[in-house]
Amino acid sequence: MRRSIRSLLVATAAVALVLPLWAAHAASAAPPGFSNADKDALRNQAPRDLAVGSAVWAQQQLVGYDRKAPTEFQQVLAGQFSSLSPENDMKWDAVHPAPDVYDFTSADALVAFAKANHQQVRGHTLLWHNQNPAWVTAASATWTCDDARAVLEDHIRTVVGHFKGEIYEWDVANEIFQDEWDNGGVRLRTQANPFLKACADDPVALLVDAFRWAHEADPDAVLFLNDYNAEGINTKTDAYYALAQQMLADGAPLGGFGAQGHLSLLYGFDTSIQANFERFADLGLQVAVTEADVRIPLLDGQTGPTPEQIAVQAERYDAMLQACLNVTACSSFTVWGFSDAYSWVPGVFPGEGWATITDEEFTPKPAFDALLESLRDATPGTSPRVG
Ligand code: G3I
Repeated sequence: MRRSIRSLLVATAAVALVLPLWAAHAASAAPPGFSNADKDALRNQAPRDLAVGSAVWAQQQLVGYDRKAPTEFQQVLAGQFSSLSPENDMKWDAVHPAPDVYDFTSADALVAFAKANHQQVRGHTLLWHNQNPAWVTAASATWTCDDARAVLEDHIRTVVGHFKGEIYEWDVANEIFQDEWDNGGVRLRTQANPFLKACADDPVALLVDAFRWAHEADPDAVLFLNDYNAEGINTKTDAYYALAQQMLADGAPLGGFGAQGHLSLLYGFDTSIQANFERFADLGLQVAVTEADVRIPLLDGQTGPTPEQIAVQAERYDAMLQACLNVTACSSFTVWGFSDAYSWVPGVFPGEGWATITDEEFTPKPAFDALLESLRDATPGTSPRVG
């Protein structure tokens, strides 16, 4: 049965009853008169050691946040999730727009919102081939490896240092491997990534140092490699597995492996997620689902997904969560935005959409219900669904 925004807000209120830490937020954000539906909050049903997160673009949705008068979107974000990921606000183009200019305005707004609502923050991201500012792209044309290292070190130390103590997991390196279908096959992105390109003679040494700089700036943050098409066991995750072993052997403070979890119903579902997570966990790493969404192809004239598509979407979200619940080293499960109102999908994949767990009015979909039910069934700190 579909529930309304009301029941999500109810869950926000119930937070106050269950965990006193959240009382301050719940008292200010929840409508009066609700008291008994903590079962409807994802964050409230998660095993204690599993963060349940959502991405949010603070510049668009959080700047100007008034704790006493939150928007409905902000109420759901606060009530349902125990972790926030900056969808864009901590990327290079946002925080480092000019060589000597750092701007943390919207990233700070996200951290302030998270603090006000007793949420953790996943940092995203420090080394990526996308969303680099124009000055990086221009300057990198003539970089030596030493030049690239100096720019990256300054960035990582400054950004991680700025948020020291506020971030529990950082995606240090994002999407550093190409895919099988890219020109050249699975290999480090020593062409598209300007830093890896400048240090193409020994890109792993740069990666090891990037993790070291981040660790020195915030020793408490767990430092992740993160990528898409990295859920199951495949040629790309084989490459990550080898890289992780090499980085650990070289002394890198690598702490985690993140599978983004951007799925589409256009493709089949890889059931080896848990096995993939287990092999990284066996290296002593944490694992995480960092950007889950499941997009649905909508044919011309199709106004919404079919019941079958809706059911399959719920199954796939749930399968990713199950893999996480079944591996004790899985520290966080994050959806890449919780509402179709702000999803990145239709803009990038024309003809696909409806990818998130609530609709544009924040009404929960069956995918939301499936996640909630599985979290409810999970027993903290154990592997409840193995076998
Ligand atoms: O650059 C302008 C900015 O100046 C302006 O303020 C803003 C106002 O609308 O638009 C800006 O650009 C947007 C940019 O995010 C923000 O820097 C682009 O239009 C927008 O298309 C862009 O999209 C983001 C995308 O990464 C870019 O690569 C998505 O919102 C974001 O969801 C997406 O996130 C990535 C993860 O970081 C990594 N994994 C894949 C995932 C989905 O692509």
